[in-house]
Amino acid sequence: MLSLAVLGSGQGTNFQAILDAIRTGKLSARVVCVISDVPDARILERGRAAGIPSYYVDCAPYRTRLDGPAEERVLELLQQHGADTIALAGFMRIVKHKLLAAFRHRIVNIHPALLPAFPGLRAWEQALEYGVKITGCTVHFVDEGVDTGPIILQRAVPVYDDDTPERLHARIQEQEHIAYPEALQLLAEDRLRVLGRRVIRI
Ligand code: GAR
Repeated sequence: MLSLAVLGSGQGTNFQAILDAIRTGKLSARVVCVISDVPDARILERGRAAGIPSYYVDCAPYRTRLDGPAEERVLELLQQHGADTIALAGFMRIVKHKLLAAFRHRIVNIHPALLPAFPGLRAWEQALEYGVKITGCTVHFVDEGVDTGPIILQRAVPVYDDDTPERLHARIQEQEHIAYPEALQLLAEDRLRVLGRRVIRI
């Protein structure tokens, strides 16, 4: 069973999908804490509503990364709650070496595109503007780069001619909510091996 810490900056629908998968027995995990860099993020409300210790961590002065005192604070919270795995669920900061080293191959992220296409911000908009016909979502291990870590699983989503960014993102999110608990369950069952860039299921 995973002792999961969930880090997010926004709505927390992926966090909700994780909670629902735990409740329905599809995911063998308990969420030990929720951490956000945004004080009024909906993910914190969802955590509190579920009775899970939920923390806002002020990440200033850094704007795009989890660094300095905030990184220390997060490490402290993870230790305090006995987390063994970290799920980034819409966490809009770059995770640095110290946290990566403390949780080697135990930090996973969900990205709203078929990596390595469209890393970075608003990936669904990038996909729409580029004109691809298929995009999707990717669950991957986090490494030192931005959206570059070994890929655990991906789900494809068609792009329609009359799509808006919002409609496309909503369709991608439906698949994220399936993919994320599924990937975490593979981790819970210890069925993943990382061989260089490749993640093998055993
Ligand atoms: C998700 O679509 C996730 O893939 C994306 O943020 C959204 C968070 O939604 N993450 C990134 O873009 C990371 N680069 P949620 O808060 O409702 O789970």
